[in-house]
Amino acid sequence: MATAGTEAPVVKGLEGVIAGETAICNVEQSALIYRGYEIADLAANATFEEVAFLLLEGHKPSKDELARFKKELIAERDIPEMVKQNLRHAGELVNKHAAVPMDILRTAVSVCGHFDPDCQDNSAEANLRKAKRILAKVPTIIGHMQNAIEGKDFVAPDASLSHAGNLLWMMTGQKPSAEDEKVMDVSLILYAEHDYNASTFTARVIAGTLADMHGAIVGGIAALKGPLHGGANEAAMEMLSDIRRDIGPENDPKKIADWMQKAFVEKRKLMGFGHRVYKNGDHRAPILHGLGRKAAEKRGPEFVKLFELGEAVQKIMEDEKKIYPNVDFPCGMTYFTMGIPVPQYTPIFVASRVSGWAAHVMEQHANNRLIRPRAAYTGPDLMKWNG
Ligand code: CMC
Repeated sequence: MATAGTEAPVVKGLEGVIAGETAICNVEQSALIYRGYEIADLAANATFEEVAFLLLEGHKPSKDELARFKKELIAERDIPEMVKQNLRHAGELVNKHAAVPMDILRTAVSVCGHFDPDCQDNSAEANLRKAKRILAKVPTIIGHMQNAIEGKDFVAPDASLSHAGNLLWMMTGQKPSAEDEKVMDVSLILYAEHDYNASTFTARVIAGTLADMHGAIVGGIAALKGPLHGGANEAAMEMLSDIRRDIGPENDPKKIADWMQKAFVEKRKLMGFGHRVYKNGDHRAPILHGLGRKAAEKRGPEFVKLFELGEAVQKIMEDEKKIYPNVDFPCGMTYFTMGIPVPQYTPIFVASRVSGWAAHVMEQHANNRLIRPRAAYTGPDLMKWNG
C-alpha cells in the first residue's frame, strides 16, 4: 500500500477517513441527524426556513426568531443589477454556447459577492449575514435564469411566498399549488445538509485558508455539479428518459430487465443509486419517493408510469446488486412530475444546500486550522535538468 511520505496509508477517495469534527450533522447508517433532529422528523414537522435557521443559527427557532429570519430572507431576495444583466444572457449562454444552469448559478453567486458589503469580513456576524443573503438570492438567480432561457421577462420575487414557493413562482410565473410547495419544501429539507460530502468538504477547505464565504459557496457549487454528487438528480432523470426511449411507451418487465442486464454487462454506473456512506439505503430516498409518487398520482397516469418504471429499476438494482437508491433518484422523478426543467434540478439542490455549506464555513472559521493533507508521490525518480 502506498504511503503519504510518512507511514500513513493512502485511502483512495478518503473513504471512511474522519477528516474533522462537526456539530452540524451526523450521517449514520441508521439515521441522518441535523443538530440533534432526525431527518424524517424534520421532513414531517418542520419547514425549510426552520431547518435553515437550525443549521445556520445552531438551535430550533422560537416563533419570534423564525418570523425575524423569514423577514430577513425575504428582504434579501433581490439581486444586484449587474447580476441581472448577466442573467439576461442565460438563454444565449445555454442555447448557443457551452453553459449549463449550474455554471451560470456559480458565476452569479460569485458576482453577488462583489456587491456584498461584508464580502471580505470573516467575522461570525458578517458570515451569518452573508449566509442569509446568499440563501435568499439563489432562488432569484435560478428563477431569472430560467425566465431568460425561455425568452421570458423576469418574474419578481413574491414576499408572500416561502423559500420553496417563491422558487417555483419565480421559475414559472405561476403560483404553486399548496401540494407542490410542500413537496418542494420537503425536498429542500432533505437536501440541506450531509456532513463532509464532497461539496461541503470543498467549502470547508476553501474556508480553511481564511478565504471568504462567497468563495467557499462558489467552490461548493462547482463540486456539487458533478454527476457523482448533486448532478445525479439530473442524470437519474436522463437515465429514466433513456430507458423509456429504448423500451418504448409501456413498462414491459422483460424489456426493463433486458435494459438493466445490458447496463450491468457494460458495467454502467446507474445514476441515483449507491452512496459512499449508506450501504443499506439512503434515509432521504423513501421520504421523497412517497411524496413524489403521491404528486404523480394526482398529476396523471403518465407520471405514475414514470414512478412504476423507477420502481422496477430500483427492484432489479436491489435484488441483483444490493445497491439502493439515493435521494437523487426519487428527486429526478419528483421534479419531473412537477414540470421542472431537468437542468434546473441541481441548481435547486443549491437553493437548499447553501444553508449547510454556510453553516460549515462558519464552523470552520470559528475553530480554524488550514486543511492541508499530504500526497503519496508516484512520479519519476529525481533527474538532472541539464543531463
Ligand atoms: N451503479 C452501478 N454500480 C454501482 C453504483 C451504481 N450507481 N454505485 C456503486 N456501484 C458498484 C460499483 O461499481 C462497485 O462495484 P465493484 O465493487 O464490483 O467494482 C461497488 O458498487 C462500490 O462502488 P464504489 O463506486 O466504489 O462506491 P463509492 O463509495 O466510491 O461511490 C457513489 C459512491 C455515489 C459515487 C457511487 O455509488 C455512484 O457513482 N453512484 C451514481 C451517482 C450518484 O447517484 N451519486 C449521488 C450520490 S448521493 C447524493 C448526492 O451526493 O447528491
